[in-house]
Amino acid sequence: METLTLVGCQFGDEGKGKIIDYLSKDFDITVRFNGGENAGHTVVVDDQTIKYHLIPAGFLGSKTVVVAKGVVINIKRMREEIEFLSKFRKNFDLKVSDLSHVVTELHFKRDSEIEQMRGAGKIGTTLKGIGPAYESKFGRYGIRLVDFTNRTDLKDHLTLMSQIYRIPFDDGYVDGLMADYESIKKYVCDTREYLEDSINDGKSALFETANGTFIDIDSGTYPYVTSSYTTSAGVTVGTGLSPRYFNKFIGVAKAYTTRVGEGIFPTEMFGEDADKLRTLGNEFGTTTGRPRRVGHLDLPMLRRAVRLNSLDYLALTKVDILGKMSSIKVAVSYEYDGKEVKEFNPSRKPDKVNYENFNKWGTGKSNLRDYIGLIEDELKVPVVMVGIGEKRDAIEVYQRVSV
Ligand code: IMP
Repeated sequence: METLTLVGCQFGDEGKGKIIDYLSKDFDITVRFNGGENAGHTVVVDDQTIKYHLIPAGFLGSKTVVVAKGVVINIKRMREEIEFLSKFRKNFDLKVSDLSHVVTELHFKRDSEIEQMRGAGKIGTTLKGIGPAYESKFGRYGIRLVDFTNRTDLKDHLTLMSQIYRIPFDDGYVDGLMADYESIKKYVCDTREYLEDSINDGKSALFETANGTFIDIDSGTYPYVTSSYTTSAGVTVGTGLSPRYFNKFIGVAKAYTTRVGEGIFPTEMFGEDADKLRTLGNEFGTTTGRPRRVGHLDLPMLRRAVRLNSLDYLALTKVDILGKMSSIKVAVSYEYDGKEVKEFNPSRKPDKVNYENFNKWGTGKSNLRDYIGLIEDELKVPVVMVGIGEKRDAIEVYQRVSV
């Protein structure tokens, strides 16, 4: 069975887009299985920057791309994204799960309302209605694509949601939603059945997560998390395929750490060095444009990500950016109550972080090799490729990923 599941090892924005784009050429199908338009997978093709929000970042590489049922869909945004992406690939094959839940304008409004209620304790969400869309799914008043049978039923679903949220909607909104649905209807199908049959017939599939391990709803830095399963465990519920289909996992980590929104960040940097790294790495949110918080690479965090996701391989991105910093540090352990601890605890800020220092590598390779050597020694997982620039082919591959 040729499947590979790809996850982010930090707080999202690890540069997964570029790695997915690269790997997807070797897979018949690329599947997205969680999150919504909060994600932004960036791929630079020639001089054009493509930002995937809902469509899998394997769009240009794989023959078929699938949006599985774990993804929550803003239909208007999906329609626009398909229109935009059609410029880059004429004959694409897209399949969207009929069981996917829809993000409506009521969810957008509720997202803003809840953030306002939280005041100083806000999560810093992307305000794309993601949390509320999963909330309505689990509350059993969500709307799935399969529910778009006719206008009257759709209006009934929206009416219940509107009563629960005490947020009104008007008739024009129902018409607009119905029209947007019509434009994506031809892609909607039972994707679980398609994937199961295809993989059983010998097709290969790459499964991509959105967001990162430590903003997973259960395994992350709760409550400063997103509302979906971003870890490798999410691939089964997100696709509907049984766990027997998955046995190889690759994690993507940035050579340093970034975070958007609030929550624990043990290796966070401040001041001039932080500003320099943010500028060099263009660390501003793909979806919201917000400046990202930046910090050193955190091996206790990656160690937990390796274990949580059963990682076989690691891909490291933006090593070129980090190499330009004059002082490079890597967190190797934490201290809690005077005791040294090797693994990140998402519910507790460490009292102290212990670092190892590195010399900058610029364009030279030996210091970079030392940096990668430390990561591999500490985590016992091979770094199989590194990202060395913005463009899609700026990747150095050390080892072929076998599935
Ligand atoms: P939400 O997913 O919009 O509800 O946001 C919840 C938290 O997850 C916020 O801190 C967001 O900044 C963060 N978040 C959501 N999606 C991403 C992502 O793709 N990259 C990085 N952070 C994200």
